[in-house]
Amino acid sequence: MAKKSTLISQIKKEGRKILLFDTGNLFFRKPLQTETKRKDGLLRVDLLIQSYNEMGYDVVNVGEKDLMMGFKFLSDMSQKAKFHFVSANLVDKKTQRGVFKPYVIKEIAGLKIGIIGFIDDQFNPTVQERDPGLTILEPLSTLKTLTKSLRENCDLIIVLSQLGESKDKKLAREHREIDLILGGGGESTRVVMERVNDVPIFRLEPRGGYLGRIDYSFVDTKKPIKFLISSGRDEMEKKLERLITRSMQIDAEMAKSGKQQEMRVKELRFLESKRKELEKTLVALEDKNFYRHTAIPVQMAVSDDPKIIKQLETYRAESGKLYKPKVALEVGKDLSEKEMIARIPKTSPFVGAINCKRCHEMNYRNWLKTKHAKASQTIVASPKYSQEECLMCHSTGYGKIGEYATVEEIPFYLRGVQCESCHGEGRGHPGKGKIERKVTLGVCRNCHTKDQSPTFNYMAYLEKVGCKILK
Ligand code: HEC
Ligand code: HEC
Ligand code: HEC
Ligand code: HEC
Repeated sequence: MAKKSTLISQIKKEGRKILLFDTGNLFFRKPLQTETKRKDGLLRVDLLIQSYNEMGYDVVNVGEKDLMMGFKFLSDMSQKAKFHFVSANLVDKKTQRGVFKPYVIKEIAGLKIGIIGFIDDQFNPTVQERDPGLTILEPLSTLKTLTKSLRENCDLIIVLSQLGESKDKKLAREHREIDLILGGGGESTRVVMERVNDVPIFRLEPRGGYLGRIDYSFVDTKKPIKFLISSGRDEMEKKLERLITRSMQIDAEMAKSGKQQEMRVKELRFLESKRKELEKTLVALEDKNFYRHTAIPVQMAVSDDPKIIKQLETYRAESGKLYKPKVALEVGKDLSEKEMIARIPKTSPFVGAINCKRCHEMNYRNWLKTKHAKASQTIVASPKYSQEECLMCHSTGYGKIGEYATVEEIPFYLRGVQCESCHGEGRGHPGKGKIERKVTLGVCRNCHTKDQSPTFNYMAYLEKVGCKILK
């Protein structure tokens, strides 16, 4: 988020007029079952709205996950937003009227742009369970009734969609009048940039790994306003550049040798005619409108926005306070060994260090003394403490089986960096299993990244993992 903000302010600095959208499912990932999590949820939403205000977002679509704390919560929170929430098909059951704006019209560079939002109607039962007064209308027919008036009032129509890949395509096939679909939702994690029925559909990886950017260049004001994809023109421009460079090379070579070579002269003539052709085509395109799309990766190398980092730190401190008092994370202190082993689910691919202890007592004892064994405790004590971000490296198997999202929820056999973080999943071992003796540098590097472990040195660190290193 703080990095995204930096990317956005860079684009603003280029002096471009921009509109910022989010396709939805911004606030929550999983249902918030405990009171603590709901409190944390509130802090989180507050942080997101503050930073979206800061970044200057214009329109955010409502996804089904945004309704996890109920409609009233979202509606109350939306009062703090300087941007608009849209949803064309989330309506009041009785009145059939939208509970958020169905669309927003924004003016930019003399263009009127209509932005509509859609939520997937497959979530109707889930949403109604929480909010019986709401219903989700079928999106395609809803769009039909809307596009006529939108087309009359807008130059461009942009759809923010949570419908998923196949429904987005259907939307494009049936509604050519849409100028752009920004897709979210569905299970896909691919970055997709495609055209269906001439309608561009862009979909980015979820979880903010990219900032999607679409540049429009606008000269032809004749209505209806249409934009062509710029890739063909870009290709031609590159080709033209290559032709020119080649001609210059030949000229230079001939000048050097002082001779007119027939072959070279022929080639020059050929290049010249090609060049004229290209230039003619390019000139013809000069008064057309174009768009160009890019997906900008939000990498470590992008610096953080200090203002948003500060908000993030405040959030972490507040969130930390909610969880802190209740955590007891010492490995193997709360239960007897037998009980612990009995409680490890037979379905889990991870069996926990306590199981390894039965046969590798020495390794276990030594490991207990390492920092790895206490890695989940460390984050609770840290002022940087937050939830999921840290668990990736400060617990075992996160993202592989982990249905845990907070330190409190880490099952005891996955606390800390356990044997299986390095040696692999223990189920089935000894025998088949996936246990490996060799632990490669790559395994350490999953967690000992340049950022998190700047002093990492493989040989020196190996000495301290608590296992015998065989030469
Ligand atoms: C029931 C006893 C038993 C348990 C429990 C057990 N191991 Fe083993 N382990 C063995 C035996 C026997 C071998 C040697 C034979 C083999 O490689 O399968 C071995 C080998 C290994 C090796 C490789 C050593 C080598 O020289 O190749 C590693 C690493 C290892 N175990 C780690 C673990 C880890 C981690 C756990 C817990 C997840 C674990 N073991 C649980 C019995 C056990
Ligand atoms: C699953 C993530 C993960 C993996 C894999 C991992 N580590 Fe670590 N390691 C950590 C974390 C987190 C800490 C910090 C623990 C703490 O202090 O809370 C740490 C700390 C250490 C330390 C202690 C450093 C100190 O300050 O004393 C050593 C040594 C170490 N790791 C070595 C290794 C080596 C060598 C490998 C590969 C063979 C490895 N680690 C693999 C996460 C990992
Ligand atoms: C990419 C993996 C990774 C992530 C994510 C990560 N850590 Fe760590 N952390 C490590 C490793 C590895 C070490 C050990 C570094 C060393 O000693 O070389 C470490 C060490 C630490 C330490 C002890 C060393 C110190 O700097 O005092 C603390 C505290 C810590 N991490 C807190 C956190 C918190 C809080 C988060 C979440 C905001 C977090 N870490 C996220 C990998 C990670
Ligand atoms: C930070 C990574 C890491 C962790 C955590 C870790 N090991 Fe190891 N283990 C290694 C490395 C590295 C070797 C040496 C491999 C080699 O010889 O190349 C090793 C070797 C071993 C061996 C074979 C040599 C020996 O000591 O007999 C066994 C068995 C083993 N580990 C078991 C365990 C068990 C059990 C645990 C948990 C209690 C554990 N390891 C935790 C990295 C780790």
